[in-house]
Amino acid sequence: MTDATKPARTERTDFRATSDPALDDRDGRLLGYRQLYELWERQQWATQDLDFTRDRADWQAMPREERAMRLYGLSGFFVGEQRVAAELGPMMRAAPQEDMRLFLCTQIADEARHVAFFDRFYAEVGIMEGSDLQGRLDATSAHLTSDFHTLFDELLRAKVDRLARDPEDLETLVEAVTMYHMVIEGMLALTGQHFIIDYNERMGTLPGFVEGFTLVARDEHRHVAFGARFLRDMARRDPRHGEAIRRTIAETGPAADGVLRPPWVDGVDEDAQIFGASVRETREFATTALSRRLKAIGL
Ligand SMILES: [Fe+2]
Ligand SMILES: [Fe+2]
Repeated sequence: MTDATKPARTERTDFRATSDPALDDRDGRLLGYRQLYELWERQQWATQDLDFTRDRADWQAMPREERAMRLYGLSGFFVGEQRVAAELGPMMRAAPQEDMRLFLCTQIADEARHVAFFDRFYAEVGIMEGSDLQGRLDATSAHLTSDFHTLFDELLRAKVDRLARDPEDLETLVEAVTMYHMVIEGMLALTGQHFIIDYNERMGTLPGFVEGFTLVARDEHRHVAFGARFLRDMARRDPRHGEAIRRTIAETGPAADGVLRPPWVDGVDEDAQIFGASVRETREFATTALSRRLKAIGL
C-alpha cells in the first residue's frame, strides 16, 4: 500500500542529495569524492534496527509460486552483494587519488552491511535452511542463472584479478568501475531495487524488508554517483578511457541483459511478468538509467 501523502522514493531529498544523473537532469552537477564521503557519514543505518516480525508472517503465508518468483530476485541480491563486497579491495587499492580511496573504503563497509542485511532477513524470516551465512549463501545460489555466474564469477572476477596483479593499470580500473558501478550497480541493482520495492509497497508485504532495502538503494545511489564522477574524470583525462568504457559496456551487455530475465521466462517473451512488471519495462528502465549516466559522463 503506497501512502499517497509520502513523496516517491526518488523524489526524497536524501536520494536527491546523491546527485545521481539517472535521477537528476541537472547535468554536470556530479558530486566530488570528498562530498560523497561526507554524505556517507551522514547516511548511516544499522541492520539491527530493522524489525522482521511482520515479514516472517507475510512470507509464511505466501503461496509456493509467489515465493519462487521472489526467490530469484532475492538470491541475485544476496549473492550479488557478497560478490561485490569481495571484489572491491583491489579496486580501492588501484584508485589513483587518496580521496577516491577514502570513498571506496566506505563502499566496502556498505557492501558488508548489505550482505548482513540479507543474511538477517533470510535467517529471521525463514527464507531458507542454512545454519550460518555461508550455508544460506550456498542454499540461495541454487536459484541463480548462468548469466549471473558469467557476469559476477567470470567477467568481474577476471577484471579485478588483473587489477590485483597490476594496480598501476588505470585502463583496467576504468573497465572494472564500468562493470561494477555502471552495469552491476547502476543498471541491474538499482533497477531490481526499484521494481522489488514498488511491488512490495503495492502488495503491502514485507515492511521490514522494504525499510532496509530502501536504505540499501540509497547507498547504491551514492556508489553509482562515485562511479559516474570517476568515469567522467577519467574520460576527460584521456579519450582512450572513454573507449574502454564503451567497450566494457558492450562486453557485459549480453550477460547483464540475461540477469534481467528470470529463468522461467522464454528468451523472446518480453511480456513475461516479474515483480508486477514486464521484462520489457524492466529492460527499458535499466537502459534509460544507463544512457542518462553515460550522458553525464560525457559519452
Ligand atoms: Fe550493495
Ligand atoms: Fe554498492
